[in-house]
Amino acid sequence: MSEQAFISIQNVDKYFGKFQAIDDVSIDIGHGEFFSLLGSSGCGKTTLLRMLAGFENPTNGEIYIDGQPMSSVPPHRRPVNMVFQSYAIFPHLNVRDNIAYGLRKQKLSKAKRYEMVDEMLNLIALPEYGDRKANELSGGQRQRIALARALILKPKVLLLDEPLGALDKQLREQMQLELRALQRQVGITFVFVTHDQEEALTLSDRIAVMSEGRVLQLDTPSGLYERPRSREVASFIGTMNFFEAKVREAKGPDLVVEAEGLGTVRGNSGERHFAEGDTVQVAIRPEKFQLSEAKPNGGDPANAVQGRVGNAAYLGERSHFFVEVAGGGKPIAVSAQNKGVKSSSDDTAEDVWLSWTDDSVVVLATD
Ligand SMILES: Nc1ncnc2c1ncn2[C@@H]1O[C@H](COP(=O)(O)OP(=O)(O)OP(=O)(O)O)[C@@H](O)[C@H]1O
Ligand SMILES: [Mg+2]
Repeated sequence: MSEQAFISIQNVDKYFGKFQAIDDVSIDIGHGEFFSLLGSSGCGKTTLLRMLAGFENPTNGEIYIDGQPMSSVPPHRRPVNMVFQSYAIFPHLNVRDNIAYGLRKQKLSKAKRYEMVDEMLNLIALPEYGDRKANELSGGQRQRIALARALILKPKVLLLDEPLGALDKQLREQMQLELRALQRQVGITFVFVTHDQEEALTLSDRIAVMSEGRVLQLDTPSGLYERPRSREVASFIGTMNFFEAKVREAKGPDLVVEAEGLGTVRGNSGERHFAEGDTVQVAIRPEKFQLSEAKPNGGDPANAVQGRVGNAAYLGERSHFFVEVAGGGKPIAVSAQNKGVKSSSDDTAEDVWLSWTDDSVVVLATD
């Protein structure tokens, strides 16, 4: 276990009968980190969270929290608390009694309990709501009560399983900001489950992208976005253009490739090295392209292609459109800052040059 790891998941497998839901997962999570598990439905997020909480045990491997192996520690003795997607707050109890619910087994005076509840009500910005019945609250307010009920027990780790899943987009975005601010304020470790990549990118210090029980990539939000290490991760996070390509020159990670539809492209393959003649994929995000009327890059033929704009959509600050390149190939998705007022119809059927920098090119192995 690395020294700073507060939670250490080590080579964990989980089988349900013959079905393997978790496949050799190792993750270290730091103290006070906002850590997210991101992946599509059925990839094993809830299963991993339930093993942290102690509701399931790993078939193989070990989970450590705060340096202690958890295999023989029952759920109620673990320094964690879980907020479920269907946050079961009690409709017949008022807000105060809902928040205080977990304290009932602790021998505390009524005054002390009230003091702690008031502190929580302030924290979740609902100071006046203590006497309100839980069924007289909005979805977002209920969500905050569920959080307060978990936080009042002062867990060292809060496990959140799609806690914002039931909320509409606007409330969801508001709650995301509040959740992040709350986590910073209380400084406890959050393990947050979501299948929404935007939500994970907005909230997290680091993210584990999962698929079929495995971790595909564990990285910071910008690391996942700028340096995806596989096509699966690259296409799961945001929009990405992919081009088949062949390596023409390789000097360590520095490559010159010939890409279908793009021509000569310079790029860097990071830790992964390729050799001359290898088939690779070149990936470029839509917003990494610069548009110009004149031939760009001082005439340097690499990292530039000429095309024709079609299907423009004007969306406030940015335009999203496809550029059809000469010589066929699939249209390239481009997203550009709108300079001045220009309607979408002005953009159509315009000849443009697309250019890009070396460091906006991601080079991936072919699947
Ligand atoms: N108790 C169980 N018995 C058998 N199979 C299970 C059990 N719990 C989960 N699974 C299976 O394990 C896999 C992972 O399930 P899990 O609930 O962890 O997915 P998830 O990533 O949380 O998905 P979602 O986003 O839909 O909530 C699924 O294929 C699921 O059917
Ligand atoms: Mg789940």
